[in-house]
Amino acid sequence: MKNNFMEVTFKAISVNEGFARVCIAGFCLQLNPTVDEINDIKTAVSEAVTNCVVHAYPKHNGMVTMRCEIEGDMVKITVMDKGIGIKDISKAREPFFTTKPSEERSGMGFAVMESFMDKVEVEKNDDRGIKVTLLKRLNHLQEGLGNA
Ligand SMILES: Nc1ncnc2c1ncn2[C@@H]1O[C@H](COP(=O)(O)OP(=O)(O)OP(=O)(O)O)[C@@H](O)[C@H]1O
Ligand SMILES: [Mg+2]
Repeated sequence: MKNNFMEVTFKAISVNEGFARVCIAGFCLQLNPTVDEINDIKTAVSEAVTNCVVHAYPKHNGMVTMRCEIEGDMVKITVMDKGIGIKDISKAREPFFTTKPSEERSGMGFAVMESFMDKVEVEKNDDRGIKVTLLKRLNHLQEGLGNA
């Protein structure tokens, strides 16, 4: 059974949204995912990291930590910041809820994460900020990218 772990920390700036996507895709390749599975994971991670970039640090620069645990065919990704946090998490998770309508945010980030992953947890970080956990089981058998 496959068992692996990685963690990266990077600055919460928009150029690193692309970095996070490539990084998570690279790590998950060992599970031999399908193109659809890897795209789902990249999309969900992108939304979580973008939220850290856009919302977590309005006043100063901060960091984002992304972790990925692989256990068998389960992928568990955690995206964390130490920013301002969210007052009402269940409200923030509602589709179309945004605190930044003026910046053309649609309030769909959490809804997108939910639709592309099996499970999404949003909690206050131990210290401060937000911790988003994204879970997905990969069901592929053979024809994944890792065989290419
Ligand atoms: N890491 C975070 N730190 C602080 N607030 C956050 C964080 N992530 C989300 N939020 C809050 O939750 C709200 C909803 O997030 P969501 O991603 O669903 O929508 P959005 O980012 O506003 O818009 P979209 O993702 O569609 O561009 C945000 O408007 C923001 O107020
Ligand atoms: Mg968002």
